[in-house]
Formats: sequence, C-alpha cells, structure tokens
Amino acid sequence: MSYPDHLRDEVESYLEDLRFSAEPAADGLEEAMRYSLLAGGKRVRPVLALATANAIGVDPRTVLPLAAALELIHTYSLIHDDLPAMDDDDLRRGRPTCHVQFGEDVAILAGDGLYAEAFRLVLEKQQGLPADVLAAVCELAAATGVNGMVGGQYIDVKGLVESGATTLRRLHALKTGRLIAASVECVVLVSGREKLGSRLSPFGQFAAELGVLFQIVDDILDVTGTEEDLGKPQGSDERHGKLTYVSQYGLERARELAAESHRHARTALAAAVPGQADELEQITDFIATRSS
Ligand code: IPE
Ligand code: IPE
Ligand code: MG
Ligand code: MG
Ligand code: MG
Repeated sequence: MSYPDHLRDEVESYLEDLRFSAEPAADGLEEAMRYSLLAGGKRVRPVLALATANAIGVDPRTVLPLAAALELIHTYSLIHDDLPAMDDDDLRRGRPTCHVQFGEDVAILAGDGLYAEAFRLVLEKQQGLPADVLAAVCELAAATGVNGMVGGQYIDVKGLVESGATTLRRLHALKTGRLIAASVECVVLVSGREKLGSRLSPFGQFAAELGVLFQIVDDILDVTGTEEDLGKPQGSDERHGKLTYVSQYGLERARELAAESHRHARTALAAAVPGQADELEQITDFIATRSS
C-alpha cells in the first residue's frame, strides 16, 4: 500500500528539530515528551494536513507548524489514553509506554506539556492572516475539547455509550474522528479558503468520514492485529470490555461497515477535490487497509 512517505519525512524532521525546555530543571520533562513523540508512529494526522495543503494548492511546508501541532496533541492523547487509570496499556509505538518508562506523574505532565506546546507552536510559528490562524486554532481547540476528543474519551472510559449504531458512531466521531477531521479542516481554514462553521462542505464530509473510518479500523485491528505490527497490545478493548465496532457487530460486519465508510470517504473526497488529490486518495486507502 503506497503512502506519501515524502510528506512523512518532512513531518519527521520537523518534529525531530522541536525543543521545548528552556529550564534545565525541566529537561527530564522534555525527554519524556520527545520519547513518546519521536517513537515512530504513522504520522497520519500531520501527513493528512500536508496532503490537504497540496490538494488546495498551498505549499505544504507553510503548514508544518500546524501539522506538527496535530501530532503533538495526538501524542499527548496516546500518553494519557495508556495511563493505568485509562486503558492501562504498557506498550506504545513499539516501546514501553511513557508512564512505564518515566512514572505516572511525569507521563501526565508530558501529556499536559505536549498539549500546551502544540498551541504555542501554532500561535508563534504558523503563517497566515491572523483571522485565519485564529480560526484554525479555534477548530483545533474545539476538536480536542469536550465536544471532541476529550469528551469522547470520557464517554469511552465511563462506558456511557449505549449499544446502537448512532451512539457508537458518535463515540468514534468524537474520540478519534474530530482530530483526524481537524487535520484537514484546519489547513483549509488557515489558507482562508473556507470559513468556520461550514462543516457540511464536501471537505468537511470527507474529513468526518475519514475520522470515523480510522477508528472502525482501529477497533478491527485490536482483534486481528499483532502486537508486533501494531506496536501496542492486541486485545486491549476486550480486556476492558469496551464497546467497539467488533463487539457490537462482530468482525465480519465490522469489516463491511469499514468498507462502506471507505467508499463514502472516497465519494466525498471526489466531490471535495474534483481534480488531482492523489495523496489524499492514498491516505484514505491506507487508513482503510492498514495493518498497523
Ligand atoms: C492510535 O492512533 C489511537 C487512535 C486514535 C485510534 P494511531 O493509529 O494514529 O497511532 P500512531 O500515531 O500511528 O502511533
Ligand atoms: C484512543 O482510542 C483514542 C484517543 C483519543 C487516544 P483507543 O484507546 O482505541 O486507542 P489505542 O487502540 O489505545 O491506540
Ligand atoms: Mg482508549
Ligand atoms: Mg487505548
Ligand atoms: Mg484501539
């Protein structure tokens, strides 16, 4: 499966160059942040951001601060998701999780640090008209807040999702979908092409479907994947009695629903970008067929 590796390389070297601590006593915090950030990972969100830039005729390098911020936020969410009080997992990106390596106190702070530094990065470094940068930052905050990722994580850990197609899709749209969708939408916003609130635009529809597809496939891989490929424990959802597409529908139906979601995402993408969108097509297909 092809993946825009040239975009991933751009992201990787930008992340590698980031430094956070100006305070020698806090160097250990930076070490924990970079340990999780630079442990590999598919970089789907920042790569999606750069591919979106290409698709709308913007130089991808101009959105690197925003793209990197998405990965910082995602990494923070993984560190906290793995904590003993949450999913209690000890392997991530092929390494011991942040709390296993550095202790829970440091892991919590490393997550907090990555979240704040993500916003600092965009506010200090992202070019664009101030109103457009503000709109992108606003979407980033909304996508990760109570009506986005964190709200979804709350519903997930508290088991508050009632079984049923609408609520399960809603859970996935919140906990994972909105940050993936923001990876597309924030780039459109920062370029000034679209204003906040136009969520039902073809781009918005594509982005939202892609986000849900991502988590349906994550649910499937939790059952069918190997620890080696995933770089994280297999079977975590079942151990915690999580409601997932697999527990709700069974493996076969979950796969059908993933295929359906993949088709919807491709249709929405074709409507959003009538011309060439090779990289976005590649990422969409990768998300549907990935094994890690
Ligand atoms: C895993 O995300 C957590 C979810 C939101 C499902 P990824 O599958 O993107 O993890 P990395 O970044 O490649 O490690
Ligand atoms: C996590 O979902 C979504 C986040 C916001 C991090 P999961 O709990 O299914 O992610 P994994 O499987 O541990 O990567
Ligand atoms: Mg979780
Ligand atoms: Mg988890
Ligand atoms: Mg999972």
